[in-house]
Amino acid sequence: SSNESAAGIAHVYRGTFVHATYHTAVEILEDGLLGVDTEGKIAFIGSGKEVDRLSQKWGFEAFAVTQLGQHEFFMPGMVDTHIHASQYSYAGTALDMPLLQWLNMYTFPVEACYKDLEFARNVYTHVVKRTLRNGTTTACYFATIHTDASLLLGQIANDFGQRALVGKVCMDTNNFIPHYKETPEESEGETNRPVVTPRFAPSCSATLLGHLGEIAQNNDLHIQSHISETKEEVSLVKELFPDYDSYTDVYHRHNLLTDKTVMAHGCHLTDGELKLFRETGASIAHCPNSNISLCSGMLDVRRVLNHKVKLGLGTDVAGGYSPSMLDAVRRTLDTSKALTIQDTQYHTLTFEEVFRLATLGGSQALSLDENTGNFEVGKDFDALRVNTDAAGGPIDLINHGEGPKVYVAGKRVVPFVERP
Ligand code: GUN
Ligand code: FE
Repeated sequence: SSNESAAGIAHVYRGTFVHATYHTAVEILEDGLLGVDTEGKIAFIGSGKEVDRLSQKWGFEAFAVTQLGQHEFFMPGMVDTHIHASQYSYAGTALDMPLLQWLNMYTFPVEACYKDLEFARNVYTHVVKRTLRNGTTTACYFATIHTDASLLLGQIANDFGQRALVGKVCMDTNNFIPHYKETPEESEGETNRPVVTPRFAPSCSATLLGHLGEIAQNNDLHIQSHISETKEEVSLVKELFPDYDSYTDVYHRHNLLTDKTVMAHGCHLTDGELKLFRETGASIAHCPNSNISLCSGMLDVRRVLNHKVKLGLGTDVAGGYSPSMLDAVRRTLDTSKALTIQDTQYHTLTFEEVFRLATLGGSQALSLDENTGNFEVGKDFDALRVNTDAAGGPIDLINHGEGPKVYVAGKRVVPFVERP
């Protein structure tokens, strides 16, 4: 309550705040005043004109207020709902094959290297620093099948101040690179981290899926996987799991669709499958760069939103070649406009809606919106301080000197620089 934390205001910021709410895609508070308590939570948000009243009420000195510059604003940190940290080493290369061949030719051999912890430390340090610099304050990561390296990724994210859900990948079926898989026992025994991560149905036996569903249910864990990314994959799942109604049904019948589940892609889901997402509360990670780069499909985001299914954005490195969430924002708009070119009646996404998907939408998709996603009282102050007057101009948010900064829970983390 207000009086309890009155003594504990740690920071106060005055300036422009831009965020999404559940009702409004973009809300802009000009000359806002936001107080952060000693635990990094937002204690109050009001008008800068009320600074005297608020400083009395909350017990901070008016001179201790940090005033933002004329060209600066705060926005919530962006949420990458789907990124393969282990694939960062080859991002921007190897995009010349469709998904299933791409996995066998490039992805599985690279992921097998994470048996080597020093290799893992090097790549994981780079991916965490880079994504933070691009404004990703929360990331939902796929690691590899290696437990030690997955734990290391969690530790590195923690050290740099990035919120991370880290999934040790589970797969007991790999016909192409036989050494890059586990026994079902290994795969189940090692999954004690927050995100239960069956790679996708084609690389998991029904036994493994069942046990992972049980582990998730018994421990109330987050779940992530891939679904309906390409048509070829959908056909393969039909072949491998002939007794199920759909790809979604394969996960659902193994208790892997919950309100803490995020499934990447979903380009080719049917209305019936989207209904199952809605009913279970499961969400979709839209990965437009990857969907185009691997020629997988174009997700109709409007249709997903009309089904009232939660949706966030993902970079899907390295199927997507950019680790930047601003790229994911642009690609989301591009795909929506490509759908509009095909059908002029299409209800194109607005940039305001996509801003919401990159922030609050992602937070909802990961079931983290009790604490993050926008500037509501009680949530963590998880924010980007953006300077539109920076060297590179407002579009790319490129800044080479003092400028945009990343705050997680009120604490400054690293400078915010988007590199192309
Ligand atoms: N489906 C199963 N594994 C993967 C992966 O690593 N990347 C993508 N894009 N799709 C997948
Ligand atoms: Fe992926």
